[in-house]
Amino acid sequence: MANDVVRTSTSARFWISLFIAFLSCSANAQSGILLPTEAYLASSCPAPNPTLYYRPVIGILTHPGDGASGRLSNATNASYIAASYVKFVESAGARVIPLIYNEPQQNLDKKLELVNGVLFTGGWAKTGLYFETVEQIFKKVLEKNDGGEHLPLYGICLGFELISMIVSKDKNILEEFSARNQATTLDFTQNANIDGTIFQRFPPDLLEKMSTDCLVMQNHRYGLSPKRLLDNDKLSSFFNILTTCTDEDDKVYVSTVSSRNYPITAFQWHPEKNAFEWGPKQIPHTEDAVRVTQNAANFFVSEARKSTTRPNAQEVLDNLIYNYSPTYCGTAGKGYDEVYIFTQS
Ligand SMILES: *[C@@H]1O[C@H](CO)[C@@H](O)[C@H](O)[C@H]1NC(C)=O
Ligand SMILES: *[C@@H]1O[C@H](CO)[C@@H](O)[C@H](O)[C@H]1NC(C)=O
Repeated sequence: MANDVVRTSTSARFWISLFIAFLSCSANAQSGILLPTEAYLASSCPAPNPTLYYRPVIGILTHPGDGASGRLSNATNASYIAASYVKFVESAGARVIPLIYNEPQQNLDKKLELVNGVLFTGGWAKTGLYFETVEQIFKKVLEKNDGGEHLPLYGICLGFELISMIVSKDKNILEEFSARNQATTLDFTQNANIDGTIFQRFPPDLLEKMSTDCLVMQNHRYGLSPKRLLDNDKLSSFFNILTTCTDEDDKVYVSTVSSRNYPITAFQWHPEKNAFEWGPKQIPHTEDAVRVTQNAANFFVSEARKSTTRPNAQEVLDNLIYNYSPTYCGTAGKGYDEVYIFTQS
């Protein structure tokens, strides 16, 4: 074995030397061509933008339960993150720190100082400690942005619903809709200004296809009609409606909103599922559907790179989600494929 390795690397070195010799020869023959080292020094790779941060970290809040109806854990204090949210963030060039909703307050506060963006996932919990933690983190995000930091937030499905409850200060603001497990189009609001929003950098052909093809996944029983949102002064002054969708009973609900003054985007649909979840058969997996996931992730992380937080490298490493292992629960053929489970002790 060891000999094979030595032989391989010796032969690799031989070919590399030959290649460099070849380059040197041609460089000598034609004086305009530079040696590889010279070419490197003379290259005009633009310097990275010093105002951007290229090692962004996203905090994802855990949701109560095991994400698998008790198949993985019945611990009353278990919480989880579906791995698709983690992959979504990672695919765009960021790492994840789990914000465990029931961990001691001082831990959560410390972790919030390490992140360049926050994500609230889907789920069902709308009361108790989980709601309080969402509300508290949401207020912290607003505070940090008011203080000059650029801290983006994505609220997905339940995340959108909770942010709507918090902004409107009305826990009964949501209405019922029939949109369980279905792929839909996105209907762009007339005259909506998409500059500076998630959709600005979507390829124009994809934006067009999103309004004709079923490229986004819905799975919710609650939501907000455009009228309900617009009639609520707090919500309508906070959010712009970018898209709506229609449920099985032809009722129209708000599906994407963007905050007017904060880098906050909220979705009733699931941008993370198309590329990373395989249980529900309705999830679209076409190339265009996957491009939707990729573009949604890219916008989030591009916003996180604008954050001025430069977290301590070791503290980041100590808290990354890589300290935990995801569990495969897709063998049941339903629900999430993989989840990270956190059991506080
Ligand atoms: C959780 O409880 C259910 C119902 O009692 C049981 O079927 C399941 O095996 C339990 N899960 C685990 C991981 O023990
Ligand atoms: C979490 O639950 C486990 C068992 O379900 C228990 O042993 C542990 O004490 C609980 N931890 C907290 C912080 O409540």
